[in-house]
Amino acid sequence: MDAFLVEGGIPLQGTVSASGSKNAALPIQAATLLMEGECSLHGLPELRDVQTMRRLLEGLEGSVEAPYELVRQMRASVCVLGPLLARYGRAIVALPGGCVLGPRPIDLHLKGLEALGAEILVEHGLIQAVAPHGLQGCSLDLTGPMGPTVLGTANILMAATLAEGKTVLGGAAQEPEIVELANFLNSCGALISGQGTSRIEIEGVSELHPCEWNLPPDRIEVGTLLLAGAMTGGRLRVNGCRPIEQDCLLQALRATGLEIQSGEDWIELQAGQPLQAHSIQTSAYPGFPTDLQAQWMAFATVCEGTTFIEEKIYPERFVHAEELNRMGAKIQRSGGGALIRGPISLSGAPVMASDLRASAALVLAGLVAEGETVVRRVYHLDRGYEGLEKKLASLGAKVSRILDESGP
Ligand code: EPZ
Repeated sequence: MDAFLVEGGIPLQGTVSASGSKNAALPIQAATLLMEGECSLHGLPELRDVQTMRRLLEGLEGSVEAPYELVRQMRASVCVLGPLLARYGRAIVALPGGCVLGPRPIDLHLKGLEALGAEILVEHGLIQAVAPHGLQGCSLDLTGPMGPTVLGTANILMAATLAEGKTVLGGAAQEPEIVELANFLNSCGALISGQGTSRIEIEGVSELHPCEWNLPPDRIEVGTLLLAGAMTGGRLRVNGCRPIEQDCLLQALRATGLEIQSGEDWIELQAGQPLQAHSIQTSAYPGFPTDLQAQWMAFATVCEGTTFIEEKIYPERFVHAEELNRMGAKIQRSGGGALIRGPISLSGAPVMASDLRASAALVLAGLVAEGETVVRRVYHLDRGYEGLEKKLASLGAKVSRILDESGP
C-alpha cells in the first residue's frame, strides 16, 4: 500500500496543467454503451476510477450485468443502468454501498427510470431492471430532499436519448459534467437541449453513433491545486482550465484577500498577504462544490479568524476534521457544519486518508505543517487525482510516494 511523505513549509511556485475531468469522464464512458462501435475519447485522465469503469464496460460486452466487485469500488458504476436499459431493455447492477460521505441512496435514479417505463426489482443487493416495451419519454422532476442528483440526472439523460418520444427532465443537475455529457451525446446524434439549466429536454432517437470527443479539465483538481498554492503562500498558475466553472471558488478565495487573475483557460494566484477567514456553505452547482469542502477546511487553518463550513450535500462529510485535528488544527463540529479557528501552526503527523477529497485535504495540510506528514492509504487519492505528488513536486513541494508497510 502506498503513502505520501510530505515535508511542510515550502511555498509553491510555478505553473501546472489541469488533467482531464474524472466526473465528466465516467458518465461519458458509460454513455458509450448506448451505441454500436468505438468512440475516441481524448484527455481521459489515468485514474483508478477511469480504469474501473473501463473494466466494467469490458465486462459488459455481451452481458448486461455490472458485478458487485466492481460496483463496490466505485459508486459511479450505477450510471451504466440507464444506458443498458435503453440499449438492451434490461440491466442488472449491484447496489452501490454507502461510503465515508454518509448514505449514498439511488432512489432518484430508480424513480426516474420507472417514470420512463422500466420495471425495477431490488433484492439480494442487486438492481434488476427491465423495459419490456422499451422506454417511453415523459415529464418528470428529479429533485430530491438534498437537491439535484448529478449521476441521477446523467442516468435519466442517457436513458431518455433512446426512449420513444420526448422527455422533459425537471430538477436536473446543472453541473458542467452534465453539460459535457449532453454535448457528447448530441455529438453522437442525440437531441438534447437545456443542459446547464434545471430543465433538460430530450427528443428520443432510434439510435446513436460513435464520435470523437475531448474531455474537459477537472475543475475539482484545479480547485485543489489553487488551494495548495494559496495555503503555502506561493505564486501559482494553472493552465488548461475553465475559470468560468470556478466562479464560486474564486469569489471565496478573493474574499480571503488573495489576488487572483484569470484568462480564458488559465488562473493565477499570488499569495503573500495575511489571509482572512471566509465561511462557506456547499451546494449544487453553481454553488460551492462539496468536493472542495475538505480542501477548504485545510486552507481555513492558515486564515486569520474563525471559518464556518456548512455542508449541505453530505452532512456527514467531515471525517477529515479529526485527522486535521491530529495535526494540531482547532476544528469543532457544530450542527451540520464545522468551525475552524485560525491561523494555527499545524505539525506534521502520520494521518489516514479516508476518501478521495479528504485525502487531498491531508496532503494540503502536510504542505504547511511543521515537519513531516505521512498520508496513508493514498489509493483513495489515486482514484481521482492524476499524479498529484508529481504535480506538487513540480511546483517545489517536497512530496514523494513511499511504500507503506505499517500494516492496514
Ligand atoms: C457526484 O456524485 C460526484 N461523483 C460526487 O463527487 C459529488 O460529490 C456529487 O456528485 C455531488 O456534487 C461523480 O460525479 C462521479 P448526487 P453523485 O447524486 O451523483 C442525494 C468525488 O469526490 N441523493 O449529486 O453520486 C445524495 O445523498 C465525488 O469526485 C439522493 O437522495 O451525487 C446527496 O446528498 C464524491 N437520492 C445529494 O443527493 C439519489 O438517488 C447529491 O448526490 C441520489 C442522490
